[in-house]
Amino acid sequence: MRAFGFDWQWRSSGEPLSIDDYRRAASRTVPRMVWSYIEGGADDLRTVAGNRTAFDDWWLVPSVLAGHDTHDLSTRVAGLPVSMPVLTAPTGFNGLTRWSGDLDAIRAAERVGTRCVVSTAATWSLEEIADAAGEQHAFQLYPGSEGVAAVLMRRAWAAGFRSLFVTVDVPTVGNREGERREGMGVPPVLTPRRLLDVARHPRWAYDVVRHRRIGGRNLASGNGVTAALASIEVQERHLVQSRLNWDDVAWMRDNWHGSLYLKGVLRPDDAVRAVDLGVDGVVVSNHGGRQLDGAIPSLTALPAVADAVAGRAQVLLDGGIRRGTDVIKALALGADAVLVGRPCLYGTAVAGDRGVEHVLTILRQEIERGLTLLGVRDVRDLDRTHVRPAGTRDQNEISIAAITTQ
Ligand SMILES: Cc1cc2nc3c(=O)[nH]c(=O)nc-3n(C[C@H](O)[C@H](O)[C@H](O)COP(=O)(O)O)c2cc1C
Repeated sequence: MRAFGFDWQWRSSGEPLSIDDYRRAASRTVPRMVWSYIEGGADDLRTVAGNRTAFDDWWLVPSVLAGHDTHDLSTRVAGLPVSMPVLTAPTGFNGLTRWSGDLDAIRAAERVGTRCVVSTAATWSLEEIADAAGEQHAFQLYPGSEGVAAVLMRRAWAAGFRSLFVTVDVPTVGNREGERREGMGVPPVLTPRRLLDVARHPRWAYDVVRHRRIGGRNLASGNGVTAALASIEVQERHLVQSRLNWDDVAWMRDNWHGSLYLKGVLRPDDAVRAVDLGVDGVVVSNHGGRQLDGAIPSLTALPAVADAVAGRAQVLLDGGIRRGTDVIKALALGADAVLVGRPCLYGTAVAGDRGVEHVLTILRQEIERGLTLLGVRDVRDLDRTHVRPAGTRDQNEISIAAITTQ
């Protein structure tokens, strides 16, 4: 309400302004069991935390009097034109967060002009997603055995996907104790306290019962609870594959005629090997800290990977992006674009497709403002002169010397 020259609100907490506001709001919309799945990670959450703090290891170094008031954020990722260098990361079982989660991401991404990487463990089948989409998106493959990979690749191609992101950092599932502590598992462990918690989220509970979008629809059919649980078991049995190796990547390269990215690469030597096999890009990622706890934060791993790839393929990054300035730092350190995982789930949890759209719009506005303040016109003009390692002066000099001699 507007009166006496002021905007009046009945409650003090207005619209979320930042991704962190969305995180706080999202945590209230789902039971703790589900929140432990969205927000958690492996073991002691060291890598989850490191993915965030790694951004504090770098300061931005602005130029003044740059004279730019417009920015070009557009680029191409995996052959797909995007209005900004931010895509949504694949997240499985989105229906746990909100029944419409996978479609929310697609609709929101299209409205802001970007694209999604759709998870193998989506709660809408890849065909349903392709039907609902107005644009082409990318498909993320948990490769598992050659047989399962071949079927999913054929289905994805037939549905119109031309960009494949193969996730290679799940030779086994990380130790997510936080989930187990909250009873998240197959089957979920229910206690009176947990049932009460579900009852405190009637909207969420109603949607689960009404829409039954909690299981992975690419992995098992049917919409009952048994099918949902079976889909998680199928994923663990067939798609998580400790024997996956470089020959499998070569096989996928031979059998996928669109663009092929490996997601979950942290070492320069692995990135070079992937590029030598003909992949179009790598995603520097530790799976949002959900796999190997203690694994190097993505941003820390990025400069060496970008140097080793040396422009022969695209380098993307995910893990811990929560601000436009995080995107700017990643691009300055050699990423061509980034993926965001949890922020989109926060958006879905709070307000469905409008929530994801707002999350992506916040990032876009923050990137634009950040570029203006940094004195840079286009995202492709970002380079290492725009960042400087934080820390003591001596450490800075050592790190800068290391970067300039790499
Ligand atoms: C709830 C959840 C589910 C995920 N499921 C998948 C998945 O199915 N496939 C995959 O490759 N990565 C998956 N990831 C990892 C994300 O693709 C991405 O690497 C990570 O979320 C990036 O970190 P961020 O959440 O800090 O942005 C998942 C992440 C989360 C949080």
